[in-house]
Amino acid sequence: MANQAAISLQAICYSRGSLSLLDQRKLPQETVYLEIHTAADGWSAIREMVVRGAPAIAISAALSLAVEVSNSDFKGTAVDAASFLVERLGYLESSRPTAVNLSEATVKLQNIVKKVAETTSNPEVVFQAYLEAAEIMLTDDVAANKSIGCHGAAIIASGLQTKQLSVLTHCNTGSLATAGYGTALGVIRALHSGGQLERAYCTETRPFNQGSRLTAYELVHDKIPATLIADSSAAALMKAGRVNAIVVGADRIAANGDTANKIGTYSLAVAASHHGIPFYVAAPLTSIDGSMASGEEIVIEERSPNELLFSHGGLGERVAASGIDVWNPAFDVTPSNLITAIITEKGVITRNVEGFFAITEFMERTA
Ligand code: MRU
Repeated sequence: MANQAAISLQAICYSRGSLSLLDQRKLPQETVYLEIHTAADGWSAIREMVVRGAPAIAISAALSLAVEVSNSDFKGTAVDAASFLVERLGYLESSRPTAVNLSEATVKLQNIVKKVAETTSNPEVVFQAYLEAAEIMLTDDVAANKSIGCHGAAIIASGLQTKQLSVLTHCNTGSLATAGYGTALGVIRALHSGGQLERAYCTETRPFNQGSRLTAYELVHDKIPATLIADSSAAALMKAGRVNAIVVGADRIAANGDTANKIGTYSLAVAASHHGIPFYVAAPLTSIDGSMASGEEIVIEERSPNELLFSHGGLGERVAASGIDVWNPAFDVTPSNLITAIITEKGVITRNVEGFFAITEFMERTA
């Protein structure tokens, strides 16, 4: 469905019984929303990058099943209803492996419906509980992001002497990657609205170009002073003294602080360390996976070779010679020793006296 609005930063449009997702593969040239009717539609939209970004895929998955449930004429018991939802959530979880937000959401929703099914024989009660839990994710995410923005702007500005800062970010972590506002890009938005941002730099983020296609679009939309750079320019930009801080998002943060994020994040962290530039990760608590001791355990999604063989991250003309092998990991893991602090909606996780991120303790303390 083509949208009348010339420009939109709303990735997820939902009202009960109706879900449409902004087709991010077509941005910035076209604003087109795809209607999602079922969990299977949601699965494909996530796998094919119509919607992407850790929080946005978790919410879209949950809401795709919500619209299927709202519009179905289910025949069965409450236990059948819970089994159906549990199975569909498991299927949705299989759409992309790296972002923990998706599995965190599916497991939470599975537990809710299983518990409700123990208390009723009416399938409608189970579905109602599912809808309410899925729908609340949209509002919770925007609130979390605004809070991340506040905490992030405060810590980044406090560590630096200058009144206005230039901040580099990678990939797209903004409104398009979330229910609204964004995580790392939310921090940049907060710095800008507080008059503390001189300039944002965004990388192209090859091969899928989330930076040039999406982050640049959001920055222009919000009239934030911003410059797009090639990924390979980042170290030179740091060497030239043009970056005061780096802030990126996360797909999965292990218990020790090791962080999986868009491929290229690790290179930025290495270069930042070399140049003495603070390197922040901004993410909601749903991006933390306390079950993984370190980043070694994180499964890294490998995407189609076509993203490199063809221009525009696989969407355009062939650019590479036929017959060449391709390695295309979508994410990498930045070791925690390269991370200055982790910014969450409940506050900033800094190092303890031993020099480690006590993430589990932080989660328990703020629960
Ligand atoms: O492959 P993508 O576009 O889904 O990757 C997105 C990222 O790596 C983001 O930095 C991360 O999901 C955080 S989004 C708030």
